Amino acid sequence: MLPKIDWSNTAERKEKIIQAKKHIKSFMPKDMKSLWGNLSEAVHQKTEEIQREEKQNGTAIPILEMQDLLQQSLPADTIENFKKKGAIVVRGVIPKHQIDTWYAGLKEYLQENDYDKQKVDPNLDTYFSNLASKKPQIYNIFWSKCQMNLRQHPNLAKVKVFLNSFWTSEKNGMQYFDKNKDITYADRLRIRQPKDTSLGLSPHIDGGSVERWMDDANIKIYKKIFQGNWQEYSPFEAAYRNEVENIPSPAVCRAFRTYQGWVALSPQGPGDGSLKVIPMLKEASAYFLLRPFLEDVDDSQLSGAQPGKAQSIDSTWHQALLEALVSIPKMQPGDTVWWHSDLVHAVEDTHTGSDESSVVYIGSAPLCKRNKAFLELQKPTFLQGLSSPDFAKENREVNYTNRASLADLNDIGKKQMGFLPWD
Ligand SMILES: [Fe+2]
Repeated sequence: MLPKIDWSNTAERKEKIIQAKKHIKSFMPKDMKSLWGNLSEAVHQKTEEIQREEKQNGTAIPILEMQDLLQQSLPADTIENFKKKGAIVVRGVIPKHQIDTWYAGLKEYLQENDYDKQKVDPNLDTYFSNLASKKPQIYNIFWSKCQMNLRQHPNLAKVKVFLNSFWTSEKNGMQYFDKNKDITYADRLRIRQPKDTSLGLSPHIDGGSVERWMDDANIKIYKKIFQGNWQEYSPFEAAYRNEVENIPSPAVCRAFRTYQGWVALSPQGPGDGSLKVIPMLKEASAYFLLRPFLEDVDDSQLSGAQPGKAQSIDSTWHQALLEALVSIPKMQPGDTVWWHSDLVHAVEDTHTGSDESSVVYIGSAPLCKRNKAFLELQKPTFLQGLSSPDFAKENREVNYTNRASLADLNDIGKKQMGFLPWD
């Protein structure tokens, strides 16, 4: 539960932050100096490791081939590496010729429905407005056939089952989610033109900001970190994760996601306005969560966290982490990248490449009570062509021709959308 307050009232908000920090301090170790010293050293070591891998292998991000995943012949060291890094590239998930056809159809859909000429209120979408860089070329489109076809592709479902198998989704007779089933969380897409400099996304973590210190479920999730035992914290422990309460805001995800991810529609690599991540899960979480308890942060502040905004990771408060920010490797159409819901990520500010850099965002939202409830909100938006429930209500696709309909869904798609029961 989050405290019920008027988040726009500065005095009230500051008072609640003071109380929340006091509560967390009641179970924090008294010797903050040695805790921070050890953690900083661990972050430094991980950063060196990441930089070394970048130099030696060209990337610090673990990579798997879909073919190997299907044949279950996966290198154990890659899996171990992924659990520490929190990010992975799975190549060749959708055949290139299939992507090319769907991508061409998507462009046609945008063109025939005059996406670029549509007038919408620019104040509707402000979630990232506290980040130094703001929005890349994100299209507020949710129901194109291209997106629906990708979401319901059996290979994507297999990748998600594989990635969710690393979570402890059941414990002491409690099932937090079903790792073999998932829902569609309808997200948007990016088409970025070559030479585009219209702003990327500064490093951030999805899933709210101040909530991580103020919501009871979050405090339970991160308790080991707050207690100073960050080494024992498991980012893949599902308990309490789907009970987290966020401050309502456009683009705060109301569903429970284990990973965010995307499918490449075009070739793109470092420098092409693509994704960057800090491939360090446990240490980076401990770093940003403990940072507000250092002496240079006022009792009423949380190292730059702003209610209703993404958690920014910036040079004022988190410089050590930024040293480990790296680009994902070159991607080809049909390749996918996945990152843990707590991982710091960013989109490059400029696209210096010579081709469009395009992706469809498809995360992993496994089946659970929370996500079933979300589906009930999402179903009518699909049927009517409204914006997906968590996003700014631009509702651009209401009158679009060639929008995906029920008839375009296969059995997987119908189950993922809640129109057929998972057996
Ligand atoms: Fe994000």
